[in-house]
Amino acid sequence: MDSVLLLAFLCAALSLWYIAAAAPSHAAADFTAYPTIPGTEDVSVAGANSILIPPRREVYDDGRIFDISHRYVPDMPVWDSKDGLGNDFLWLLKSIKNGSLANNSAMKLGVHTGTHVDAPGHFYDNYFDAGFDVDTLDLQVLNGLALLVDVPRDQNLTAEVMKSLDIPKGVRRVLFRTLNTDRQVVEVAMRLMFKKEFDTSYVGFKEDGAKWLVENTDIKLVGIDYLSVAAYDHSAPSHLVFLESREIILVEGLKLDDVPAGIYSLRCLPLRLAGSEASPIRCILIR
Ligand SMILES: *[C@@H]1O[C@H](CO)[C@@H](O)[C@H](O)[C@H]1NC(C)=O
Ligand SMILES: *[C@@H]1O[C@H](CO)[C@@H](O)[C@H](O)[C@H]1NC(C)=O
Ligand SMILES: *[C@@H]1O[C@H](CO)[C@@H](O)[C@H](O)[C@H]1NC(C)=O
Repeated sequence: MDSVLLLAFLCAALSLWYIAAAAPSHAAADFTAYPTIPGTEDVSVAGANSILIPPRREVYDDGRIFDISHRYVPDMPVWDSKDGLGNDFLWLLKSIKNGSLANNSAMKLGVHTGTHVDAPGHFYDNYFDAGFDVDTLDLQVLNGLALLVDVPRDQNLTAEVMKSLDIPKGVRRVLFRTLNTDRQVVEVAMRLMFKKEFDTSYVGFKEDGAKWLVENTDIKLVGIDYLSVAAYDHSAPSHLVFLESREIILVEGLKLDDVPAGIYSLRCLPLRLAGSEASPIRCILIR
């Protein structure tokens, strides 16, 4: 980089700093963090950077909008792994600190990581080959009125449990909050999506529960608060039951903490990953 460019650069950086200093609540940069992920460190107590506090919210507009997707962080649990997502999923290809004009990151992520959606090709090879990927999922199913419901905490989702929930006909989207989310009843470690180590004892649908839902309700979107809608020991059978008709969409790994049960407008948008049987998804609930 020649010195004129460098000078222009320093000026730009300085003026950015002044703007940030004048507006303490709306800055996003972290000048100390390299190569850590910007904003994942607590900059509020970091001396010279104490003015730069990025806003990170779970709830917006005084409780009208709830973010129900999990943040991608190194400690996020990953299917069948002890180590979680780890530090290597996101890195800077080019950085201002190293003389590049802009910061430019890359990521590498399993498509079933964090809050994500399954397409029919996930458990049906013939659907996969025929192209039923995440790009074919119906946005009308992924967006619309949804019921957030608490299920009994002492069981997996069986036919009996499903029956007891009395979900009215006509309800098309249901987010099931289970023991996976709980913090009052069980110790903190049971909030499974915040625990790095994958835990096979999570709550999910048993095959008969999935069957009951398919045969007795109008539900087309099933949401759950851990990495799979299916209980660990019924992983294949429950997925097969849900995905067979290609009409039911499964949204997994939802963050349902601190959201009152009830009816919301759900908005879920997956990435258009052609050829992929899943995708990370951003979901929000609006009152
Ligand atoms: C660019 O990346 C560096 C890390 O090299 C970081 O400290 C800096 O805040 C980033 N700048 C902007 C404008 O985001
Ligand atoms: C930036 O420079 C440092 C020191 O030479 C090097 O270790 C690092 O890999 C570089 N990073 C990028 C993103 O170019
Ligand atoms: C749910 O099923 C899993 C096995 O898939 C089991 O480990 C767990 O204890 C069950 N949870 C409850 C609350 O029964």
